[in-house]
Amino acid sequence: EIWGGLGGIWGAAGGGGDGAVRQCCPPGGHRPPEGGVWGVLGGFGVVWGQGKGFGGDLGGVGGVTPGCPQDVPEAVPEAERRRQSLQDARRALPIFPFREELLAAVGQHQVLVIEGETGSGKTTQIPQYLHEEGYTRGGMKIGVTQPRRVAAMSVAARVAVEMGTKLGNEVGYSIRFEDCTSERTVLKYMTDGMLLREFLTEPDLASYSVIMVDEAHERTLHTDVLFGLIKDIARFRPQLKVLVASATMDTERFSAFFDHAPVFRIPGRRFPVDIYYTKAPEADYLEACVVSVLQIHVTQPPGDILVFLTGQEEIEACVELLQERCRRLGSRLPELLVLPIYANLPSELQARIFQPTPPGARKVVVATNIAETSVTIDGIVYVLDPGFCKQKSYSARTGMESLVVTPCSRASANQRAGRAGRVAPGKCFRLYTAWAFQHELEETAVPEIQRADLGALVLLLKSLGINDLIHFDFLDPPPHETLVLALEQLYALGALNHLGELTTLGRRMAELPVEPMLAKMILASEQYGCTEEVLTVAAMLSVNNAVFYRPKDKVLHADSARVAFGVPGGDHLVLLNVYNQWVASGHSLQWCYEHFVQARSLRRARDVREQLQGLMERVEIAPSSCGGNLDLVRKAITAGFFYHTARLARGGYRTVKHQQPVFIHPNSALFALQPRWVLYHELVCTSKEFMRQVLEIDSSWLLEVAPHYYQAKELEDGSGRKMPKKAGKSREELG
Ligand code: CDP
Ligand code: MG
Repeated sequence: EIWGGLGGIWGAAGGGGDGAVRQCCPPGGHRPPEGGVWGVLGGFGVVWGQGKGFGGDLGGVGGVTPGCPQDVPEAVPEAERRRQSLQDARRALPIFPFREELLAAVGQHQVLVIEGETGSGKTTQIPQYLHEEGYTRGGMKIGVTQPRRVAAMSVAARVAVEMGTKLGNEVGYSIRFEDCTSERTVLKYMTDGMLLREFLTEPDLASYSVIMVDEAHERTLHTDVLFGLIKDIARFRPQLKVLVASATMDTERFSAFFDHAPVFRIPGRRFPVDIYYTKAPEADYLEACVVSVLQIHVTQPPGDILVFLTGQEEIEACVELLQERCRRLGSRLPELLVLPIYANLPSELQARIFQPTPPGARKVVVATNIAETSVTIDGIVYVLDPGFCKQKSYSARTGMESLVVTPCSRASANQRAGRAGRVAPGKCFRLYTAWAFQHELEETAVPEIQRADLGALVLLLKSLGINDLIHFDFLDPPPHETLVLALEQLYALGALNHLGELTTLGRRMAELPVEPMLAKMILASEQYGCTEEVLTVAAMLSVNNAVFYRPKDKVLHADSARVAFGVPGGDHLVLLNVYNQWVASGHSLQWCYEHFVQARSLRRARDVREQLQGLMERVEIAPSSCGGNLDLVRKAITAGFFYHTARLARGGYRTVKHQQPVFIHPNSALFALQPRWVLYHELVCTSKEFMRQVLEIDSSWLLEVAPHYYQAKELEDGSGRKMPKKAGKSREELG
C-alpha cells in the first residue's frame, strides 16, 4: 500500500514493462525478480556496461578525502597499481586526445576560451597538462578559480591524487578561512572570491603564469569581476596566459569580451538521456522527490540517482525522509545509500559522494546545483529535477537582499539532465510539465552581478584603487541604482567619505574577508570592548544554519536542549552561549551529542574564529572582553547591521526604512517573544520573507551607531502613539 501512489506521478516510468523504459545494463548476472514489485529489477551483477574506461570506473576515486593536509600512505605495489589505473583513467577522458592541440593553442594565444561538456576533464586535466609542459617552472603558479568552495577542495584533492602528491604540496586549494597551500604549491585551486582578494596583495598577479577562470558560465559576481580585472592586467603582462573555461554555454560572449579570443571546443561524449515530464504540476516537490526516488529504486535497472534540490535544509529533510522510508521498508528493499552534498557540508562527508557504490546497492545523491557542472559524480544514470534553485535576489529600492527559491533556467535544466548520460544512457525525470519547461523557465539565468548587493564588491574595488566603477569593464554591467546604493551603504557604514574615498575604517574593513556589515560589526567591537565575544558571534554566524541538530526521532529532546541555551537578547547571543559552553566543556564531543549540537559546525566556527583573530592582529586591534555585559555585544552588532532592522507594528514586523513586511523565522529564539525592535542577520524568502538570526535591540542604539542613516523621527512609534520611554530618553540625550 506504500507503493499505492507510485504510479501516479510518472506516465512513462511507472508500472514496469513500459516500452519507454530502456534497460541500460547488459544481460548476465540478473537475479530472479523477488516478487511482483521487482518486475523490472535485475542486473545487479554487472554495472555500467558502456561506461567503463572513460571516467566511469576510476578505481580509487573514492579514496580521495578532501581535507588538509592529506596523507596517501600506501603499500608500494598497490600504490603503483593504483597510479597506473589513475593514469589510464586520465588518458580515457574526452580531453586527452586534444592535449597537444590545446597546448599549442595556449602557446599561440594569450587568451583562450575553452568549451567542453561537464566531466570532459577541463578542471582536473588542463592545469596538469600546463604543469607538465613547463608553465610552472621557477615556481610560477597556475591558478584555477571555482565559483564554489566544495568544488575547489574536491577537485584539488583529486588532482593531488592523480599527481601522487600530498594535498597542500604541489597541488593546493584556497577558500575563505581555509588555506591549504604551501611554498611548493604550483597548481592552486581557489574560489573566485579568493583570487579577487589576491589582487589586494599582488595587483598584477605576478606569481602566476596562468590564470584559468573555470565554470565561467556560472557568471557569479566574483567571476564576472575577475574578467574585468584580468583583462586589464593581461594588457601589461603579455606572458600571462588566460584561460576561460565553461560548459557549453555563453562561450561566444566570453570570446567577444576578450577581444575575440579564439574558442577551443572539446567535443563531448554523451549517451542519450530520455526526458520525462509530469502530467500535472506537483504541489509538493519534496514529497514528489522522495516518492520518485523510491519508485526509481524499485522499478529501474541499476544506476545511481542524482536529485537537485535548492539548499541545505531541503536536502536534509529529503535525506531524512528517504532514510526513514527505507527503514520502514527494511529488507524488502535493496540497499539505498542516501548522500547529501551542499556547500556547507563538512568535507569528510562530501568525499563520500565520490565513493563507488557497493555492488547490489544504489546510491542517491541529493545535491544543490553544485552538482550541475562543478562536481562530477560518476555512475549517475537517473536525474530527478524539480526545476528550482535558490538565488540571491536584491532590491535596490529597499536595499534588501534575500535568498529566493526560483525556477531554474532552461539552460540549467538541460545541464542537469546531461548529468544522467555520462556513463550510460540515462533518464531525467522533471517534476514539472513539458509546457512549464517551454513557457515558464527562462532561457538562461540572470547573472549574479545584476541581482546581488554590491557592497562588498565596491569596497574591494575601491581598495584596489578602482574609483570609477561606472566605467569599469563589466561583461554585463550591474544596475546603476545598485551601485549607487552600495556607495551609500558604505558611506553610512563609515567606509567611504563624502567624496566616495576609502576611509581608514574602510581600509580596515576591506582587510577582513567578510561582508561589509559583518566587518563593521567586528571592528566596532573594539570600541565597545567586546572583541572576544563579537568574534565568536561572527564565527558562529558563518555556520549559522548548522549549529543545532534535530533528528526526526528525537525532536522533543532536541528542541528542549535548544531552549535550554536560551538567553535574553536573541539568536546571536544564543550562538555565543552555545560556543562558550562548548569551550567550557573542553570541546567535548560527548557534550555536543548530549546537547544536540553539531560538533563539526563548532569546530569550523573555531577555525573561522582563529582566522579572524589573526586578522584582528593585522589591523592592530587588541583583544577585549565585556564579561557579562552583553548589551555591549548587541551594540557592536547593531553598529554593523543597522540596515537590517524591523519594528513590530500592529500587523507584524516591517523593516524600519522601507516598511516591508517581514517575519521572524520559526527557528529563532525570539519567535514567541516578538520584541518591538529587532535586527536580523539575513532574510530568507520561502513562503514569506523570514528574518533569520534575530536580535532584540533598543531603537536608541540606532541613532548612536548610525547617525548618518537614521533620524530620530523615523524611530518613533509608527502609529503616532506615545513613544516608548527609552527611545524618547535617548533623543533628549542626543539633543
Ligand atoms: O571540468 P570538467 O567538468 O570538464 O571535468 P573534470 O572536473 O576535470 O572531471 C574529469 C573527471 O575526473 C570526471 O569525469 C571524474 O571522473 C573525475 N573526477 C573525480 O573523480 N573526482 C573529482 N573530485 C573530480 C573529478
Ligand atoms: Mg570543471
